[in-house]
Amino acid sequence: MNSISKISKNSTYLQIIWNDGEESKFNYMWLRDNCPTAHDKDSRHRMFNILEVSKDINPKKYSLNDDGKLEIEWSEGEHTSYYDPKWLRENCYTIKNKQKYKSPYQFWDNNLKNNFESICIDHDEVIDSDEGLIKWLELLHHKGIAIVKNSPTEKKSGFKILHRISHVRETFFKTPFEVINIPKPNNSAYTAHALRNHMDLPWFELPPGYQFLHCLVNDANGGDSSAIDGFAVADYLRQNEKDIFETLVSVPLKFRDKDYTQESHRSYHAPAISLTKDKDFHDIRFSVATMDALDCHPDQMDKVYKAHHRFGNLLHDDRFQIKFRLGPGDIFSFNNRRVLHGRTAFDPNSGHRHLQGYYLDRDEILGRLEYLKKYKL
Ligand code: OGA
Ligand code: ZN
Repeated sequence: MNSISKISKNSTYLQIIWNDGEESKFNYMWLRDNCPTAHDKDSRHRMFNILEVSKDINPKKYSLNDDGKLEIEWSEGEHTSYYDPKWLRENCYTIKNKQKYKSPYQFWDNNLKNNFESICIDHDEVIDSDEGLIKWLELLHHKGIAIVKNSPTEKKSGFKILHRISHVRETFFKTPFEVINIPKPNNSAYTAHALRNHMDLPWFELPPGYQFLHCLVNDANGGDSSAIDGFAVADYLRQNEKDIFETLVSVPLKFRDKDYTQESHRSYHAPAISLTKDKDFHDIRFSVATMDALDCHPDQMDKVYKAHHRFGNLLHDDRFQIKFRLGPGDIFSFNNRRVLHGRTAFDPNSGHRHLQGYYLDRDEILGRLEYLKKYKL
């Protein structure tokens, strides 16, 4: 464990030199705001309000006390704070900001097909062990895709394994949604037609983070599945076709739900590719079926369509895409805002086909994984 070797006061921050030579700067307002007494011990919410002190607050006295804590007597509010060096080191934003960002995403292309078992996990392993659950969540987070094998095939039985993670994300399609060929379909998924690679519900402000397609029966001819890593394709464009990438990142497209059963008009503008604060990939918005009549500036329309055309072609390119067939008891699980999915047409007269679909928010996958890695590994 690191200890503090030297402390010195500057105009707006304390500088700390650690025993391993690392240096930290801790801003006074930040320190006051993060005094360990600032939080309620039960709710863990901050009860202290930084607005109650002036922006000029600073240490009247500071020292490393006999308990090894950084002790600060503040210039106002008659308050003394005691900081554990371990906490300061773990939360040091000087060190954090020096570290190079490492992406959690492992891109894949059609080579994944040669290694398909690596993304498969047994249903009961997830139900019976935290290790199994962690493995599933890690596949979902890092690769964006996993196939749960040997699940039961009773209707709604997907709830049990999903509740190992968290509650589901509800939509008007209900949970589970029934992916089955129906008369007068309100969605092209509910036909026997082929579905080009797409994401679900891109017209939401926040489309579901993850999707789970639980195969109950797949006896019809056709109806084979496809999947493609949209982040890998976006990364290819970032490396090789910068102008196209720039257009896809910067120009908002328009998506709209046209479901005739709805007494609601839902639509949303978002670029095809969006990035995080670290310039990593955040999400992909791509769905030929539900992209609305675009309304970008006329000077941009040609450039936007050409970029969309290129992106769409790559999103169906066999160099990137994997093809497989779901069998009863498989749960095709994937990051809905990264991995696009599709299926070939099927012949409804040749046999029955029935999938049940569920959504979960991304927060639930990430939050559960973080928790389990900390407390169960
Ligand atoms: C869907 C979908 C794929 C399939 O329901 O969103 O894409 O294999 N289904 O039927
Ligand atoms: Zn879909």
